Amino acid sequence: MINLNSTNLDITDPDLRSSFSDLQGGILKSHGRDVSRHVFVRFHDAELARTWVRSMAESVTSALQQHESAVEWKATGKEHLFTSLMLSGDGYRALHVDQARAPRDKAFTAGMKDLDQTYNTAPRGDHKPTANPLADDPQDWEEAFRSEVHALALFAYGSDGHDDDEAAAAVDAAVKELAAALSGGAGEIVCVQSGHALRNDIGQVIEHFGFTDGVSDPLVLKSDLDRAYANGGFEHYDPSINIGGVIVPDPGGGPDAYGSFVVYRKLQQNLRGFADHTAQMADALGVDRDLAGALVMGRFKDGTPVGEQSVPGWRNEFNDFNYDDDWTGLRCPLASHARRSNPRGDTYRRFGSPETIERSRRIVRRGISYGTPDLDPPQEWTDTGLLFLCYQANIEDQFIFIQHTWCNNQDFLEDAVGRDPVAGQCPADEQRNPQVWPTQWGRPHSERSFEFGDHVRMRGGEYFFVPSLSALRTM
Ligand code: HEM
Repeated sequence: MINLNSTNLDITDPDLRSSFSDLQGGILKSHGRDVSRHVFVRFHDAELARTWVRSMAESVTSALQQHESAVEWKATGKEHLFTSLMLSGDGYRALHVDQARAPRDKAFTAGMKDLDQTYNTAPRGDHKPTANPLADDPQDWEEAFRSEVHALALFAYGSDGHDDDEAAAAVDAAVKELAAALSGGAGEIVCVQSGHALRNDIGQVIEHFGFTDGVSDPLVLKSDLDRAYANGGFEHYDPSINIGGVIVPDPGGGPDAYGSFVVYRKLQQNLRGFADHTAQMADALGVDRDLAGALVMGRFKDGTPVGEQSVPGWRNEFNDFNYDDDWTGLRCPLASHARRSNPRGDTYRRFGSPETIERSRRIVRRGISYGTPDLDPPQEWTDTGLLFLCYQANIEDQFIFIQHTWCNNQDFLEDAVGRDPVAGQCPADEQRNPQVWPTQWGRPHSERSFEFGDHVRMRGGEYFFVPSLSALRTM
């Protein structure tokens, strides 16, 4: 059995072998492959669909298999197709799974399109249930996501430097096979989203606005914590997370079975708009464009945290920092995306709220970019963006809380500091207020307001559960 209050776990620990060979891959560690297909499925016939789920279980990659194939790849270069299968709340209902065997989570059960379901999103125990805390408008979503989605099959292939065409052929073949398996009446493919990791000249993964991404994620495995320690230590920020922040027991599986809740959101990015707006902000503040972008994101494009210095240059995955010496956001603005989505002690510094509570909000991000690799298109709103995907133990307490109470909140930490300029969503009946930015990095009384945002649009998504392999096999 896994002790859910533990961290720094060794994936090869013989005592955890049965759990890690039953837990799906990708949760504790990114699968690391550059090309993926996200296949959204709707079931037609419960019995045929259950048979399909059971057969899919045979090709799903467990956490242990993921580790073993990574070891083999390092030794021989041999690639392995990574496969994961997730089910939505509607999916469990469509499969007629007994309630006692279905995972329990308020958001998962309701589904992302349910705007009437209320959530407790107020900090410090003020219970003010809020409907539609994400400020979503499903009318704006792509057609496929507006109807019921029951399952998400994820295929990924091809490591950094691998032939992309070969990787695309491998994942496309898996999609074709899936379509054939469904065609006997089990269901249909609703849509396929194609992901492709973008990389900079030194191989770091970047997102479409050009910033290094996936730098700061909570870590569970000893190998990842050892690497983070070697990369800067844990003096100012501890990246570890108890495994119970990411996985929960799976009531549908065996005694050692665990799964994880997933938030999936297709986020379209306006690359031209972001670049032009950054240039305008740089002019308005009298700073260069690199710094303006870093104030918005919380890190420079190369990953250097703007709370640490006013110029880029570190080009590494440094993560051992907090905002202790920057209470008011003169170096890293209170609105900046990285600070909003992980305040690294701000709620403790401001409100005395226990740090364990703030840390318990953290999510494990495993998104991938979609659309053309051109980072500088001439026109606005090209078909490009982020297939945002994160794992957690409780959707309401983690993703929904972060998105609503931190990113969408114009008054987080201080009145009228504005929304997260990247991830913040504005409710239809509210207006966008400007954020507060320093005009001279780190200098008191140098702040100016400037409104930045609306370069990311939600195009559709759903909540899922990643069941254990034993649950899938006995579905
Ligand atoms: C298209 C939309 C988005 C873009 C372009 C984006 C980009 C980035 C970048 C460049 C970073 C800094 C690198 C890193 O620490 O990994 C970051 C960090 C982060 N983002 Fe996003 N992001 C987006 C949406 C979201 C959303 C919707 C959420 C959750 C509500 C989110 C949560 C986080 C978190 C938790 C971090 C880590 C912050 C830290 O620990 O310092 N992001 N994002």
